Amino acid sequence: MAVALIVAAGSGERLGADKPKAFVEVGGKPLLLWSLHVLAGVAAIERIAVALPPGQEVLPDCGPVDCQLVAVPGGRTRSESVSLALAAVGPGDPVLIHDAARPLVSAQLIEAVLAAVAEEGVDAAIAASSVTDTIKLARPDGTVVKTLDRASLWAVQTPQVFDRAALERALDVGPDVLAQATDDAWLVERAGGTVTVVPAPPENLKVTTPLDLRVAEGLLAGRGRA
Ligand code: C5P
Repeated sequence: MAVALIVAAGSGERLGADKPKAFVEVGGKPLLLWSLHVLAGVAAIERIAVALPPGQEVLPDCGPVDCQLVAVPGGRTRSESVSLALAAVGPGDPVLIHDAARPLVSAQLIEAVLAAVAEEGVDAAIAASSVTDTIKLARPDGTVVKTLDRASLWAVQTPQVFDRAALERALDVGPDVLAQATDDAWLVERAGGTVTVVPAPPENLKVTTPLDLRVAEGLLAGRGRA
């Protein structure tokens, strides 16, 4: 059976709210609970560990869920929060990691990413969307160095699913390396592991700014009516 980690320990400074991002209300419930409820409803997931902001490790009331839940204090960086949640989640393989900041994740996307690891013999499968903007590499002073080939670029998201041994090996690095990781798949790549992308729908957006929050609110309201 699979286990899942939800990282929700970020402060969410860019949102400008008076509380950590995971606890900000969107569509009538804390941001964190949208993805928690979707993950808890996926039959293959047996247990979920949630990394919460240190000092605020009480999960919001999530009602009855069909899954075991454990809350742990998160770390100073995202990858530290992942390591702490992994240590607390108990046995289970593969390991799915999801950012609480992506409330619009769907059960179909979770199942597609789980299936990719099971069927393709890779160390990790990651949700990602193909890039629609043209992407340029520029120097700090703004001078463009080159234009990248959009056809082979992917904007990486969560959920990400890992073979447990590969993830544990990848996380067994110093705090300086962990601090550089903006996603866990990068740690697996640098350890020599194989990673594949799974196309994700455009609505699996990450809530970072107040504008993102308004867009998520509108999309979640639509989901409630569907
Ligand atoms: O900061 P960023 O937007 O990349 O954070 C992505 C996810 O990682 C968020 O869900 C956030 O709560 C989580 N995070 C964490 N522990 C940290 C920093 C971020 O769990 N120290």
